[in-house]
Amino acid sequence: MNSANDPVGLESLFDQIADALAGPGFIVLDQPLPGSLIQGLIDNLHQQQNSLKPAGVGRQGDYQLDQSVRGDAIQWLEPGDPAVTEFLYWMDKLRLGINQRLFLGLFDYECHYAVYQPGAFYQKHRDAFRGNPGRKLSTVLYLNSGWDPVAGGELVLYDEAGADQLIRVAPECGKLVLFLSEDFPHEVLPATQLRQSIAGWFRIKPV
Ligand code: OGA
Ligand code: MN
Repeated sequence: MNSANDPVGLESLFDQIADALAGPGFIVLDQPLPGSLIQGLIDNLHQQQNSLKPAGVGRQGDYQLDQSVRGDAIQWLEPGDPAVTEFLYWMDKLRLGINQRLFLGLFDYECHYAVYQPGAFYQKHRDAFRGNPGRKLSTVLYLNSGWDPVAGGELVLYDEAGADQLIRVAPECGKLVLFLSEDFPHEVLPATQLRQSIAGWFRIKPV
């Protein structure tokens, strides 16, 4: 029994995630959230299509727009819409579950929708860097129903040195990827179709 609505299923899911983070440091889960929630998020993203803004690189002082680095358009998620509220609640349960198992001290979660038009990409980068203190655990949830396996758009995770590919993930609907933000340079390859996701970060208090 491993339904995402079943607390027992959730506990064993969190065990599996914690084991992976303590081991290789990343995990790809095929469909950990309820399908109805994924559909609610897709609908919510659809409603917000016109308010997405080109993503910047860096934050605060060194924020800049540079489409040669990343070409997605984003919208930060705020509670309000029922699906978004349910998603943030689910992620908060995950945050607590991970803290109980690994004592990471994750204290909050920030996330945005990301839409890549065909051809858009995000060059190899790290999520935890100067402009983003405190990012500890990265999450990506894919919202592409009927993803074509030859469309490209994979997420590629590299080893810490940024040399060897560890894994390539097709952005198929409902898939959730988690990886330690500091340890894995990664990139988003261009796709031949629209590519939608929610990228998020659990943060620790910056020292
Ligand atoms: C990011 C990112 C990966 C993806 O937004 O920082 O790396 O697969 N996204 O969308
Ligand atoms: Mn990233």
